[in-house]
Amino acid sequence: MRQISLTELIPGMILARSILSSKGQVLLVAGVTLTEEYIRKLKNLNLDVVFIKDEKYADITIPEYLSMETQQRALSILTATMEKVNKGENFSVDAVSSVASDIVEELVTQADVAIHLTGIAIYDDCTLAHSLNCSIYSALLARSCGFTIPQIKVITCGALLHDMGKIEIDKKILNKPGSLTNDEFAVMKQHTALGFKLLTKKRLEISSLVAHMAWQHHEKIDGSGYPRGLQGEQILSYARLLSITDVYEAITAHRPYRKAMEPEDAYNIILSGLGTSFDEKFGQIFLSKIALYTPGTEIFLNTGERAIVVSVPVNNPQRPMIRLISYPDGTPYTPPRNISLVANPQISIIKRPNPS
Ligand SMILES: [Fe+2]
Repeated sequence: MRQISLTELIPGMILARSILSSKGQVLLVAGVTLTEEYIRKLKNLNLDVVFIKDEKYADITIPEYLSMETQQRALSILTATMEKVNKGENFSVDAVSSVASDIVEELVTQADVAIHLTGIAIYDDCTLAHSLNCSIYSALLARSCGFTIPQIKVITCGALLHDMGKIEIDKKILNKPGSLTNDEFAVMKQHTALGFKLLTKKRLEISSLVAHMAWQHHEKIDGSGYPRGLQGEQILSYARLLSITDVYEAITAHRPYRKAMEPEDAYNIILSGLGTSFDEKFGQIFLSKIALYTPGTEIFLNTGERAIVVSVPVNNPQRPMIRLISYPDGTPYTPPRNISLVANPQISIIKRPNPS
């Protein structure tokens, strides 16, 4: 199995992972042979990469941390909740809280893993995809930071709901390509307090910590964040953790209005913000556990060779096991050769081909 960008898809390839809609419905089921028509549909879905079966890489397994059923349930519950909020109807967050609990149970029953999203289906709604991805990153990071299971469940629930206030923000501003004007940014910032207000209406059902995560997830350690300019430990630890996964997800994921940034660049943004934008301790743990290049991803090396990531060591996720597939002049390696980047410190990964 490998993951490739949509631009590389050709008819006849076989889809290896189902693709879900933002409502949790299966749009295209794993095992289907791609046709011109399917490929055209996929290109309309704001996807960046898909998983395909490939005989050459049959031994490369891409771990699925979160079952398709739980992903579907999370998306359909989030969609239903947001629709109710949108219509001004009474909504319950109990279902979101229970799916957060399921996500955590699934993630923490696995062996210690590097933080990444491989195996997660891709969706066509930005806010919901962002929320689900953030919840997974946050649960994995919270576990690495030593939070207890009940605490991780609250953090995961908070990550699922942190951008709820965006429902009340003008869609033209929310999805605007390019940068926002000062006035538009001032409107955008309101999603934090709006989310808090929506969630505190439900005070009896949910931990107030979840509502505070929505309010505080754009605060920064040095006080330069919003909406209140809180500093350091004035910011709830759960929100300090979420602000890291929120930024990382937002800049590495493909969005209709801008290209995804290279994971390496996102890594450097978190690194340069340690202690100023981001909590130093949580940030360092995140950077030591995040897998920038995940199994099945094609990469270019500083040697000019092309390779594919085979597996990611938990304790050194930036130095994966890779398979060399072609020489700098494009001649294929026959047979392909596996090497460990831990054992070959002189080799570095330059980038993914055709980043979308
Ligand atoms: Fe936000």
